[in-house]
Order: sequence, then C-alpha cells, then structure tokens
Amino acid sequence: MKTYLVTGGAGFIGSNYIHYMFKKYGDDIRIINVDALTYAGNLENLKDVEERDNYTFVKANICDRDAINKIFEENEIDRVVHFAAESHVDRSIVNPEIFVETNVLGTATMLNAAKKAWELPDGTFKEGKKFLHVSTDEVYGSLDDDPNAYFYETTLYDPHSPYSASKASSDMLVKAYMDTYKFPANITNCSNNYGPYQFPEKLIPLVISNALAGKNLPVYGDGKNVRDWLFVEDHAKAIDMVQEKGKLFETYNVGGHNEKQNIEIVKTIIDVLREELDDSDPRKAKLSYDLIKYVTDRKGHDRRYAIAPDKIKKEIGWEPETMFKEGIRKTIKWYFDHNDWMEHVTSGDYEKYYAKMYDKR
Ligand code: NAD
Ligand code: DAU
Repeated sequence: MKTYLVTGGAGFIGSNYIHYMFKKYGDDIRIINVDALTYAGNLENLKDVEERDNYTFVKANICDRDAINKIFEENEIDRVVHFAAESHVDRSIVNPEIFVETNVLGTATMLNAAKKAWELPDGTFKEGKKFLHVSTDEVYGSLDDDPNAYFYETTLYDPHSPYSASKASSDMLVKAYMDTYKFPANITNCSNNYGPYQFPEKLIPLVISNALAGKNLPVYGDGKNVRDWLFVEDHAKAIDMVQEKGKLFETYNVGGHNEKQNIEIVKTIIDVLREELDDSDPRKAKLSYDLIKYVTDRKGHDRRYAIAPDKIKKEIGWEPETMFKEGIRKTIKWYFDHNDWMEHVTSGDYEKYYAKMYDKR
C-alpha cells in the first residue's frame, strides 16, 4: 500500500485531490495531509474523510524542518504531492515576503526532507519514490491576444507578480534537485482551477458569493484579461496520472483549452444563477449585469494565460473531461448547497480582507 504525503491538503486543490484519491483508490492507499491551516486551509473541506483509518492530518508548517523530518522518520512515504503555498496574486502584491517564505523556503524544506529519507548511501534513491511539485502557468508570464500563442513546457520563465516569482523560484529548486541529485520528481504547471472549496478571494467564488448577496461584482481593468479555466477534479486526475505514468524529471503543462475573458466569466455566473434561482427568491430580483463594477486594475496584471496541454495528452493520455458549461453549473450548485461553508469562510477576517482590498478600488 502506497503512502502519500500531501502538503496543503486543507486548501482548495489539495482537498479536492484528497477526495479524488479516496474515491479512486479507497482503502488501497494511505494519505497523510500536512497543512499549517492558514486563512486558506479549512478542515471543513475534509469532513467526509477525517474518520477514515487510512487518513491522517498533521498540523505543521512546511518551513518547520523538524516537524517535516519527523513525518518522514515515522512513516515510509512513497509519494509526496506538494500543494502547500501562498496562492493569491493580490495578497502577494500587498505582502510578498510570506510568499518567499512558504513557497520557496517551504519547498526547500520539503525537498531536503524527502531527499534525506529517500537517498541511499550510494547517492541513488529508493525504488519507486516520487515527489510531485504542483505549480502554475503564471511562471511563464503573460501572452498577448494572439490566439495562436500558448505556453509550452519549453516556454521560458518570465514571472511578473511576487506570487509567480516565488512559484518560479520553487520550480527552479525542484529542477536543481532533479539535475544535481537525480532526485525523483516531476513538476506540473497548471492553469486556473475552479470548483468546490475554493476560497472566495478568487474570482469565481467571489463573484458567486457577492452575486448571491446582491453586492457589486468587481472586475479589474477592462475585464478582457484571459484565463484558461480547468475544473479542479480534472487537475486532480492529471496529478495522479503524472505520478503513475509520467517520465521522471519531466515537466507537464496542465490546462483546459478553455480560455475566457474575465467579463465573460462574470456574466456567465449571473446568467446561470438567474436560471437556478426560483422566481420567488428575493435574490433573483437584484441579480443583473448592473451589479458589475469595473474597478482599478491589479498592478502588473498579466493579460492572457493559455496552456498547450499537448505533451500530457500525447505521453500520458490525460485530457480535461469537464466542459466549462457543465463545470461552472456544478460549481455554482455546490456553493448554493453549501451556504454554511461560504458563511463560515466569509465571516471575521475575510470581511477585513475584503474591505482592505476593495473599498478603495
Ligand atoms: P489554497 O490557497 O487554496 O491552499 C493552500 C493550502 O496550503 C492551504 O490549506 C494552506 O493552509 C496551506 N499552507 C499555506 N502555507 C502553508 C505552510 N507554510 N505550511 C503548510 N501549509 C501551508 O491554494 P490552491 O489554490 O489550492 O493551490 C494549491 C497549489 O496549486 C499551490 O501550490 C498553487 O500555486 C498551485 N496552483 C493553483 C492553481 C489555482 O488555480 N488555484 C492553479 C495552478 C497551480
Ligand atoms: O493561472 C493559475 C493561477 O490562477 C494560480 O497559480 C493561482 O494560485 C490562482 O489564484 C489563479 O491566479 P489568478 O490571478 O489568475 O486568479 P484570480 O481568481 O485571482 O483572478 C482571475 C482573473 O480575474 C484575473 O485576471 C484577475 C481577475 N479578478 C480577480 C478578482 C479576485 C477580477 O477581475 N476581480 C476580482 O475581484
């Protein structure tokens, strides 16, 4: 039975990945989830799995060398899936340092701990061990509006925000471990994810939450920036397939071939919500395009991201399965049905965050 060490499993993609893995492998795997439970980590996301005998949660910071080494000493870890990171671009613009700390130093700690546990006296590594570093397409910088331009695995890194610079640094560290020590790893660079359990600082859950509350829907700049949206379960599947079928030391781009302008996303959410709400629901009366408010642009806002997922399709056979039309409806319905989840995460600190980031825009 393989033991997975998942970092950041209480966050958005990490918790979806853990659900995906238990759905797929049931009792045939063991998962240890290590998470510091920052504002973005929420154990409520994992309520359905916490009673499982083959699931363990450890509250620890990935920068805490002793705590991470201890997990490796006490468990024979076969796979590391490294999600833990500070993930929000706007926060990185206000407070870059924590991004360097978690994303760069935290990744170094994870690499060192895995290397220490897996390295044999002759400098090779124990059979079958694998480390997967979960990264982003933002490391490649920004594309212009030429519809034929894409990010490939060979595209040069050109990060712009403190977030993407910290992720690029962490990718480089992983590459350095692969090149120097032949450390058994892969990197995946994925486009924008959407789906259940995403913290409502990110565009899609923020717009759903505000729309249901009859609040303004903030659109940065001209609303024409493009992101390539992927349903989170498809990302979870890609990560699993890369670990099972990918060639060691390779990078794989993961994306949905689903480019949308931000304004299109916001209008789609309004349209779908209007279809889903009963005519008698008072929230429906307030819900229209009039809620859209163009606000001051994000500093250094990347114009367009678009992934070419040709390599992962050709070498591994992965393709996105969830069409955006279906995925966005599923997502909206999930937030509808989990009003309590939304209420828990949008109280207290979230309100202070919202006021600080949006009141003066
Ligand atoms: P998230 O912010 O929702 O979750 C991050 C998780 O990491 C949280 O549970 C948080 O508590 C934990 N964490 C943060 N700092 C930690 C620390 N120092 N020690 C231990 N745990 C810590 O992020 P997400 O959107 O789920 O992203 C997960 C990973 O995927 C990140 O590495 C991100 O760069 C990458 N990624 C995200 C997207 C996306 O669209 N969200 C796309 C591509 C790649
Ligand atoms: O591309 C992958 C990346 O996608 C991940 O690496 C990041 O962790 C993840 O946060 C996401 O980054 P973005 O900056 O693209 O996502 P965000 O949801 O913050 O913004 C999506 C787009 O919507 C972006 O162009 C900015 C815009 N936006 C965002 C917010 C929060 C708005 O117009 N209004 C908003 O209020």
